[in-house]
Amino acid sequence: MKVLHVVGARPNFMKAAPVYHAIARRGHVQTLVHTGQHYDNFMSDVFIQALELPTPDESLNVGSGSHAQQTSAIMSRFEPVVLKHLPDIVLVYGDVNSTVAAALVCSKLGIRIGHVESGLRSFDRSMPEEINRLVTDQLADLLFTPSSDGDENLLREGISKEKIFLVGNVMIDTLIRLLPKADEIFPRLRAQYQLDSFGLVTLHRPSNVDEESTFLPMLQVLDELSQTLPLIFPVHPRTRQKWSAELQKCNPNLRVIEPLGYIEFLALQKNAKVVVTDSGGIQEETTYLGTPCLTLRENTERPITLTQGTNVLVGRDWEALRNHFNEALNGGALPKGRPPLWDGKASERIADILASRLQ
Ligand code: UD1
Repeated sequence: MKVLHVVGARPNFMKAAPVYHAIARRGHVQTLVHTGQHYDNFMSDVFIQALELPTPDESLNVGSGSHAQQTSAIMSRFEPVVLKHLPDIVLVYGDVNSTVAAALVCSKLGIRIGHVESGLRSFDRSMPEEINRLVTDQLADLLFTPSSDGDENLLREGISKEKIFLVGNVMIDTLIRLLPKADEIFPRLRAQYQLDSFGLVTLHRPSNVDEESTFLPMLQVLDELSQTLPLIFPVHPRTRQKWSAELQKCNPNLRVIEPLGYIEFLALQKNAKVVVTDSGGIQEETTYLGTPCLTLRENTERPITLTQGTNVLVGRDWEALRNHFNEALNGGALPKGRPPLWDGKASERIADILASRLQ
């Protein structure tokens, strides 16, 4: 069996790594293609190293651009690469532009597609990721879902039951594998930041960071909350580029730092009193870790983190943010538990399904 994996953006690496390792253990031929959607050392290389992925066999170096520019550049550079390797299946991950671009190329070439982290829906088509999820799932031949809401969404969209496999969450496979390393380095991080008690913030969604009328009030509330609990804020390049002057004006309790590596960020997530974010993956990681998560979005494609985890949608309701933040500091509501099949073995299940389907 020949498997080709497509990765491109930061959230792809932790999803692809466990699947790559599980397939390697079964001795199949694999090719890793990096589209170059994310290209900074701290958005890409540090993840590949920490996750023990090999150096990509093929790098498409597409870089940044508008959605159309980026997606079309990936498509035109990926086509000759996939034709050169002629895999039995191409695995795509999550919902980024690299995911949908590779799926479109393969579907026209008649090459089978497996979508890992399939079926998630925010029902908000103003999010570029929702379009990427909808299109990729329509094109995929094997759809691997992290939770049963994914299966329900896919069935409702007319996808046949035989193509859908509830396997659990591959990102949690990586988290479980690397948690001991995160625990090992945490004392060093605590000494570095000189913080016993802290919260963690990430913000990068266009809907939150692109407009002044949205981002500046958000930053002001975070600045205020950091007076109660110091906040560490690793800043995504998109946010940094746009707001570097405003970020510098924040009070010193809002620690604006460069993006962190996977293991460092995991250590902080586990030990934070509360996480404030607009990321998708962080909603899942905090649910597994039992860390309260306040999501600055009106919706989530990961509703299981609300019903079975520690996530609360606060949107742009600053009063709700203040209240939930204080509740988290005071011990707050107890974590609800962990979703089924978030057990560290999702990638093993994927590798077994691929082997039985493709041979
Ligand atoms: C992408 C994904 C998003 C994911 C996020 C995680 C899509 C549509 N969006 O958003 O779902 O949550 O990755 O990080 O695929 N930039 C750099 N260096 C880099 C990468 C980006 O400086 O290595 C800057 C560029 O100015 C770029 C901007 O960040 O234009 C945005 O990057 P892009 O890949 O377009 O989208 P993300 O916001 O990172």
